[in-house]
Amino acid sequence: MTENIQGKVVVITGASSGLGEATARLLALQGAKLVLGARRLDRLQSLARELNLADQAVVQTDVTDRHQVQQLVDRAVDLHGRVDVMLNNAGVMPSAMLERLHVDEWDRMIDVNIKGVMYGIAAALPVMQKQKSGQFINVASVAGHKVGPGGTVYAATKHAVRVISEGLRQEVKPYNIRTTIVSPGAVATELTDTITDPDVAAGMRQVYEQAISADSFARVVSFAMSQPEDVDINEVLFRPTSQAY
Ligand SMILES: NC(=O)c1ccc[n+]([C@@H]2O[C@H](COP(=O)([O-])OP(=O)(O)OC[C@H]3O[C@@H](n4cnc5c(N)ncnc54)[C@H](OP(=O)(O)O)[C@@H]3O)[C@@H](O)[C@H]2O)c1
Repeated sequence: MTENIQGKVVVITGASSGLGEATARLLALQGAKLVLGARRLDRLQSLARELNLADQAVVQTDVTDRHQVQQLVDRAVDLHGRVDVMLNNAGVMPSAMLERLHVDEWDRMIDVNIKGVMYGIAAALPVMQKQKSGQFINVASVAGHKVGPGGTVYAATKHAVRVISEGLRQEVKPYNIRTTIVSPGAVATELTDTITDPDVAAGMRQVYEQAISADSFARVVSFAMSQPEDVDINEVLFRPTSQAY
């Protein structure tokens, strides 16, 4: 199943930890050409050294700045002449009850989780249109399917990612572009570190006791990428086997 991955040019946002990092490791093993973005350059650089990537294969990128996302995608085109996969993965989850009025955190979730994904689309779509091929893989969540107390704004951003991805799917038919939503349940990463509300953090720690390894996500990405070009895996929703929510 890896023959459709070998040589593909893959841009990953949020590659400095968690799901993005695990995916970079797996796709590197499977022969993809990676261009990695995140804000923590030191983490990207040590990952690049470990995976034997060129120094230029990592780009310090804040996805809330559309110009930085454009520079990330431009780097892939400069290095490899094309973009086969845009993995819009960067995200934050500072969950809290609305009554706490953590309005700055609402803004951050909207900026990173929604606008960051849209900037990724804006940067890579013209390249893929010209190629008449490509694949967007946008990371939503179980929270893109349901909402619970404390998770309102995060769930709203992930519902938005699913709607944007489905609209994109319908619009890019003339260009032979594939669109995949990946919606994970609890996966062990640094995501819960962004929660500042102590009550929500305690509840979330309990939920994440059953969290599965980030390799689970990487395998889903690899599966969606490795399908024949006329097969478009539109969404994968997965959870730990023990997760009820
Ligand atoms: N883990 C789960 O259980 C789970 C479940 C469902 C969905 N997800 C989604 O999976 C995605 C990846 O999260 P994760 O679980 O791997 O968490 P993580 O370990 O915290 O990774 C998040 C990544 O996003 C990057 N990031 C955050 N803000 C950014 C910004 N402004 N610009 C660029 N990059 C930024 C971080 O890098 P820097 O800090 O270096 O910028 C990091 O690489 C997110 O979209 C998350 O919502 C995760």
